[in-house]
Amino acid sequence: MKKDFIDFLAERKSIRKFDTSHRISKREIEEILSLAAKAPSGNNTQPWKVVTVMNKEVQKQLVPLSFNQSQIEDAAAIFIVFGDPLEYDVDHLADYKARNEHLSSEEIEKFKEKMTKFYEMSPIDKGPEALKLDCGLFSMNLLSAIRAYGYDGAPMRGVNFAGIKELLSIPEDWLPILIIPFGKANEPGRPKVRKPVAEFTRFII
Ligand SMILES: Cc1cc2nc3c(=O)[nH]c(=O)nc-3n(C[C@H](O)[C@H](O)[C@H](O)COP(=O)(O)O)c2cc1C
Repeated sequence: MKKDFIDFLAERKSIRKFDTSHRISKREIEEILSLAAKAPSGNNTQPWKVVTVMNKEVQKQLVPLSFNQSQIEDAAAIFIVFGDPLEYDVDHLADYKARNEHLSSEEIEKFKEKMTKFYEMSPIDKGPEALKLDCGLFSMNLLSAIRAYGYDGAPMRGVNFAGIKELLSIPEDWLPILIIPFGKANEPGRPKVRKPVAEFTRFII
């Protein structure tokens, strides 16, 4: 089991060529997203929003907004991951906790106080840096979930996110994180090139 997971991590590659005849069901996509959402996030805010495109006409329209990268059209589906700053709003968060964790009104008030103090001390944790971190962790989980279901994909940011937001009528304040085309792989991917551990790690022993 451990060895399998090591292989799973070691063998991940960005895949950009897909079997264009393969279709993925909405049901399977929902399972992949549900698995990805097990990712951690600061204070369990879960600030990710995902737009799933599985429509060839829309995919064609996205190609020129993606520097003509063909994987956008060839993929069986595309996840576009955004970060929603509303999820860091203290009242919004407290409301979610009240509904899902069955807290008393006293516990909710304490939680609001704690979160307000936390954000006062560390405003960066309710800004774009935090959204990129929380949604980045979600996106990595999403890439793994895609593979766990027998598909492959590539994380991408080389796109015109402003144009994509306009085309798909995405709310103005959603922060674009990644676009992930995925499907049945039709290539082995490029060879792995990585820096050795000694080059990026400092040990304090
Ligand atoms: C933030 C980010 C943006 C990326 N943007 C693109 C992209 O626009 N197009 C693309 O083909 N690959 C893109 N990639 C994939 C990288 O090129 C790839 O992860 C890297 O070369 C390492 O290869 P590997 O994923 O196969 O290990 C992106 C990866 C990340 C993390």
